[in-house]
Amino acid sequence: MTSALSLRGLYKSFGPTSILRDISLDIAAGTRHTIIGPNGAGKSTLFHLITGRLRLDRGEVWLAGENITGLSPHAIFRRGLARSFQVTSLFPRLSVFENLRIAGMRNAGCGHAFWRRLDGFAELAEQVEEMLTLLELGPRRDVAADALAYAEQRALEIGLALVGGAHTILLDEPTAGMSRAETERTVTLLRRLSAGRTLVMIEHDLSVVFDLADTITVLADGGVIASGPPASVRGDARVRAAYLGAAAEVLT
Ligand SMILES: Nc1ncnc2c1ncn2[C@@H]1O[C@H](COP(=O)(O)OP(=O)(O)O)[C@@H](O)[C@H]1O
Ligand SMILES: [Mg+2]
Repeated sequence: MTSALSLRGLYKSFGPTSILRDISLDIAAGTRHTIIGPNGAGKSTLFHLITGRLRLDRGEVWLAGENITGLSPHAIFRRGLARSFQVTSLFPRLSVFENLRIAGMRNAGCGHAFWRRLDGFAELAEQVEEMLTLLELGPRRDVAADALAYAEQRALEIGLALVGGAHTILLDEPTAGMSRAETERTVTLLRRLSAGRTLVMIEHDLSVVFDLADTITVLADGGVIASGPPASVRGDARVRAAYLGAAAEVLT
């Protein structure tokens, strides 16, 4: 089966400092995959390499069977790999509905065949409605983005990246700064949004990780020290020694 995402021998240094060394990873389509590891391990850097924001020193990135190494972030996004943007990418004064509609138009692309079809706009409206339902923001559709609660804004950000059909989404610490209740809501949301898609997520909250992930990769000391289903990662002696030590109570 073709992997949603395949990383082959990735290397990245900043100046003389080697951050990632020979990272190889296959992520099966339709799964939820979580990346964990200590601060500074290079998790965010890895996402920047996948999305084309940073250049690889060596290695290849394949998306759904296509080599996307060296493509621009825009070109990669157009191939169905979305990442969530910062809160600042919301239009604060526009309604939830308008934010999603504009993102849907942007995601479809102005020159896209979509707009040459008479039903292009109807299809967009349908996608926006579907996303409103998935995000559970239907009742908030006419509220300005800056009047939403924090967790609702983060949910809308993810929706903006996904509306129009990305098949793979990368999220960097989606529950950062959230209360326990907001985190639980977000886990439910991610479960729903990831149905029929591939979700790759960096997450520091281990209860979220073990609740949501089909597979887990542990990044430490510039490399993948373990990768597999939660039960195997939980029991891995190297993982406990390198990373999980203090947090081991979550795992027992
Ligand atoms: N653009 C950059 N230039 C130089 N060093 C960087 C840059 N981005 C990240 N780093 C360094 O690379 C290491 C990994 O960072 P990062 O990928 O953000 O780690 P993580 O997300 O796992 O906490 C850190 O030591 C960080 O300071
Ligand atoms: Mg990071």
